[in-house]
Amino acid sequence: MPTLGRLRYRETLPAAGQRRCGTLLLIHGFPLNSRMWEGQLAFAERGWHVIAPDLTTIVKADATVDDYAGEVIDLLDGLRVEDAVIGGLSMGGYVTFAVFRHAERYVRGLILADTRSEADTPEGVESRTRMLQLLKDHGPAAIADQMIPRLLGETTRRTRPEVAEQVRAIVLENSADAIGAAIHALMTRPDATPLLSSIHVPTLIIVGDEDTLTPPSMAEELQRGIAGSQLTVITGSGHMPNVEAPEAFNAAVASFLDRRV
Ligand code: MLT
Repeated sequence: MPTLGRLRYRETLPAAGQRRCGTLLLIHGFPLNSRMWEGQLAFAERGWHVIAPDLTTIVKADATVDDYAGEVIDLLDGLRVEDAVIGGLSMGGYVTFAVFRHAERYVRGLILADTRSEADTPEGVESRTRMLQLLKDHGPAAIADQMIPRLLGETTRRTRPEVAEQVRAIVLENSADAIGAAIHALMTRPDATPLLSSIHVPTLIIVGDEDTLTPPSMAEELQRGIAGSQLTVITGSGHMPNVEAPEAFNAAVASFLDRRV
């Protein structure tokens, strides 16, 4: 995988001579990495230059969503990308809001999957602090054990244990330092709600109907906050519809890209 600046990234390009639609930049959730977007890299075949950065190359203990956003913007600059449809799942959505806050001109459209605009509540911050201790004491495997039942929907866990194995393998690729950095970024992120009314680019909001971390009610709040945004609910999926229900997820994204962007 190539590295530019501090970020490693996956990239797929449309074939030579193919119609070019633009850039689709996809930002992963916690405690994952760009491999969670493997099922979306084929958007290159529809004419999109797909870029999926790995925020896990940032390992400083006091990382913030603004640090991550800065690295993403540097990556776009380094790849000479002037604007992109930026998609983020969960933590990736928090980083997407930070990119929008700092550099709106790079944002041609938004895909906000299983995410929310609010900061952590005080109880949420306490639970992140406990997670940091768990990570220190027992490492990434303990974080995978805690997170997988939250990341995947009930249907996926009951009927497709191989998906849980796949997600676990992705978590275990990440260093304890990278996971610790992400927990710090999550627990210090600002409230992005005031930003919502200033979003005027085409926006697709996606949520799994079995998502318990950022449930459909939160997606509905986002939709109410972003004028003209569109909401797609993916049935039978939890917090990771791009992995749990890639066909439905990709169909929603394809229709958004074809019609709205
Ligand atoms: C994620 O999926 O990125 C995290 O669950 C986000 C969070 O815990 O707030």
